[in-house]
Amino acid sequence: MTRNRRWTLRTDHTGYTVRLSPDGPWAELDAWGPHGVETGPSALDWSHRTHFITPADAAPAEYLPYGLRPFTGADLIAARPGTERGAWWAFAGAAEEEGSLRLTFTDEVLGLRTVLCYATVPDTDVIHRWTELVCTGDEELWLERFDSAAVNVPVTAGARLTYLAGQWSQEFQRTQLTLSRGTFTMGSRQGVPGHAYAPWLAVQDAADPGDAPAYGVALEWPGNWHLTAEAEPGGAVRIRAGRVPHEGRVRLAPGDTLTTPRLACAFSAEGLDGLSRVWHRFERRLTGERLHRPRKVLYNSWEATAFDVDAAAQLELAKAAAEIGAELFVVDDGWFTGRADDTGGLGDWHPDPVAFPHGFGRFVEEVRALGLDFGLWIEPEAVSPGSALYAEHPDWVYRIDGRPARLVRHQLLLDLGRTDVQDFVTATLDRLLTGHDISYLKWDMNRPPTERGRPGAGPADHLDLDAQHVAGYLRVLDHLRTAHPRVTVEGCAGGGARVDHATLARTDVLWPSDNTAPLDRLAVQYGFLHAHAPHVMSSWVTDAPGVFDPRPRSLAFRFVTAMCGVLGVGADLRRWDAERRAEAAGWIARYKEVREVIHLGEARLLGSPLDATCGVQYDGPDGRTVVAALGTGRLDGAPLVPGRPARLRLRGLDPAARYRDAASATTYSGAHLLHYGLPFAWSAGHDAELVVLTRQ
Ligand code: DGJ
Repeated sequence: MTRNRRWTLRTDHTGYTVRLSPDGPWAELDAWGPHGVETGPSALDWSHRTHFITPADAAPAEYLPYGLRPFTGADLIAARPGTERGAWWAFAGAAEEEGSLRLTFTDEVLGLRTVLCYATVPDTDVIHRWTELVCTGDEELWLERFDSAAVNVPVTAGARLTYLAGQWSQEFQRTQLTLSRGTFTMGSRQGVPGHAYAPWLAVQDAADPGDAPAYGVALEWPGNWHLTAEAEPGGAVRIRAGRVPHEGRVRLAPGDTLTTPRLACAFSAEGLDGLSRVWHRFERRLTGERLHRPRKVLYNSWEATAFDVDAAAQLELAKAAAEIGAELFVVDDGWFTGRADDTGGLGDWHPDPVAFPHGFGRFVEEVRALGLDFGLWIEPEAVSPGSALYAEHPDWVYRIDGRPARLVRHQLLLDLGRTDVQDFVTATLDRLLTGHDISYLKWDMNRPPTERGRPGAGPADHLDLDAQHVAGYLRVLDHLRTAHPRVTVEGCAGGGARVDHATLARTDVLWPSDNTAPLDRLAVQYGFLHAHAPHVMSSWVTDAPGVFDPRPRSLAFRFVTAMCGVLGVGADLRRWDAERRAEAAGWIARYKEVREVIHLGEARLLGSPLDATCGVQYDGPDGRTVVAALGTGRLDGAPLVPGRPARLRLRGLDPAARYRDAASATTYSGAHLLHYGLPFAWSAGHDAELVVLTRQ
């Protein structure tokens, strides 16, 4: 324990300084920004002479309970049953180590110890924050609210909030608003982060023109959550984030500790552009050594055959996929017994003998003989009402006694909080992965919990079912990593409904959306790349027009868009003629040459899909710069802006260096690329380019 009253955590380029408040028993933010920002009077100080509220209500507090902060929003609401809600605590000490800090507050009357925890993430500009709550008395406590952390950002004229919102098939739409008064909240009660909002937020001072310094938070929780931004009396915007207990509150028994999910907090002086790179670097770190495994070019047959899976058609697709250069063949939904459509089969994870008349094992071997890795889709948490699994274990699904079990997509949800269900799922995955040469698993989830009870398990509010489900899900994913380390795992939830740092740390790629229509996909990816790294972004080239947006774009456009992350193909290749297949083979070959730059390099978003030309620039560790350029405007041959070619200004290059585009035999100075940009001449047949520049 130290006697300090002020502490600074340092990341690569930032400092985060916390102090004990001169006004009461709480910690508050002193400064957060570039190195050195803590020297000088705190930008969060103000007069505190506000009528009618307490100093705690006006303070840029790091974490305060209801009780001490009665009016303007508390981060913790705790009570003993039958007593007043609230905590009134005292500072009990700090423990500081290199890169970490723990601040402890105790309420002896309530019997609660609260520890605010901080840890820097090495080689990034991210600080993790979370809270530990310990019941120190001999009576249980009820926690109605237990956020992970509160984060204060001083703003002069309101906050510009950037968030990722949407719905199924339109996930990750980058959205902005200015918050000058009041509250903005987003979240999910669907047992997964959800399609509607990503658990991610960026905050900038709305008074700053252009891409102002940006603060960001992201919650590491694949269950119910909220993220709330509130305009504070002192002029700051205060962000609170945490779990939302399904039962409305959780019980903390004497001696027990509740550890909240971590909130990752990031800062970049280079605005949203820089902030995205902070998150990318953080996610590359989350991936660890697996980052250096090349992400193979996948073919997935879902859009080609849907539930109509049989060995002959799949092999025909696999042959075509191998010919164009795919490295991995994934059979999606529909391979198991009882799965003629989406009304049955889930839970009975046995290959359909009718679909694979010579045996599934032989089918996998035949795919492997084409030189392809083999991958399989599964939805481990799901069960169909007509399945053998449900007949045998009706008690394994969430249900409330006396209430109907509603169906979503004709299916029920297994209670993955139960250890016997976890063991079943683990055993199923082990059986499939050891019984066949499978090196890729797509874990899907298409059904959020509705009625969420566990029959016979006692009072629902003693269960914390959301946290139990999350723990079961993470336990099974952890098992996959340790027992089957060679297997690549793709995370998916009816598109992009389960994208969060806990999932990301245990998977290799994520599926952002079911919508692969070219211009729609571009918007999804644009938002996704603000928060997440290219190496986790799975993307397929599909037939056009396909299921969604019919606006026509070339095959080149679809390839260049999908190459912005991890390239896959989902088109019905049986319908592609030789010319189309040859073009696809050319794109896949080019992608293989540059994927290392895309997955390991620093990415910059150039413009937005609302611009007539936009793109992504990747600066690789080997001196190569790859630019994926996309023309989104009219393709009738007329110049987009009469008399002017389209240009994409690059960023971050050395103005004095020379960069050569071997394909067009052109050499540019860095200054030219930064000032004028790369030129493009879009036309009816030409709406995308992949430019590779080599530093001379
Ligand atoms: C939803 C996924 O997002 C799709 O990619 C596909 O796997 C279907 N489920 C299969 O049912």
